Amino acid sequence: MPGGRGDPVREAARLMSTRRNVVALTGAGISVESGIPSFRGAQGMWAKYDPMEYATLHAFMLSPRKVWEMLSEMVSVCGGAMPNAAHKGLAALEETGVVRAVITQNVDGLHQAAGSRRVIEYHGNLDELICVYCWKRYPTRERWTPGTVPLCDCGEILKPNVVLFGEPIPWLAQEQAEEEARTCGVLVVIGTSAQVSPACDIPRIAKESGAAVVEINPEETSLSGNVTDIHLRGSASEVIGKMVRLFQDPTTPPPRG
Ligand code: APR
Repeated sequence: MPGGRGDPVREAARLMSTRRNVVALTGAGISVESGIPSFRGAQGMWAKYDPMEYATLHAFMLSPRKVWEMLSEMVSVCGGAMPNAAHKGLAALEETGVVRAVITQNVDGLHQAAGSRRVIEYHGNLDELICVYCWKRYPTRERWTPGTVPLCDCGEILKPNVVLFGEPIPWLAQEQAEEEARTCGVLVVIGTSAQVSPACDIPRIAKESGAAVVEINPEETSLSGNVTDIHLRGSASEVIGKMVRLFQDPTTPPPRG
């Protein structure tokens, strides 16, 4: 690949094509360009809704109708969103054998909508509702309409099957995510502030297992400068778009199987 040195995206693509098994870890930043606000920062959801009042399991058990004020906004915004070039780029890189899996903290289902097949939903998905009393589940579109609070057949208020603060990560998702982190050659961390545990441990697990860590984020995060090997400053769609073009470039060595 001509002139790899000096261009960090090319460097990252070189690393991805020479090492085995690239796994992506994504956060809210990858969906910002689909019109879904991230959580932190001035425009974030948590600037509008205090997460301790609107996003803990305790708050949901105490006042589910109040928590549904926030959840309604999330379900509406995510329900109307479309995958962007970054989601589609990851799906294309999976198709060509570069990316092996996507671990996502997002609950918007946009990776699957873009065509990604191996997606580990670390924080669940908004497309399903669950009763925290009788554990019955329902498709959200069948039980929820804007402005309403969905009820279970048992009469209790339903919760989206997402992980609220104070709830455990679904054990299968945690197992699979850690296994991917332990066995990947490169972990590409896209659009996360890496402030929420245990998701923020995944890059460290990968690093300690010998993987290289590539970070795509316009900002510095807690990973930058310590776990991250290559920090690609820019938006997810811009950087992943460039990566896809590089892998489509015949002079780029194909990933070794
Ligand atoms: N492209 C890439 N990264 C972006 C973009 C973009 N277009 N826009 C913003 N970012 C970056 C921000 O700089 C920030 O570092 O995305 C990150 C978003 O961080 P958070 O809002 O903290 O979201 P995330 O890290 O996914 O939050 C983790 O916290 O609130 C809980 O359960 C929720 O899954 C969520 C978890």
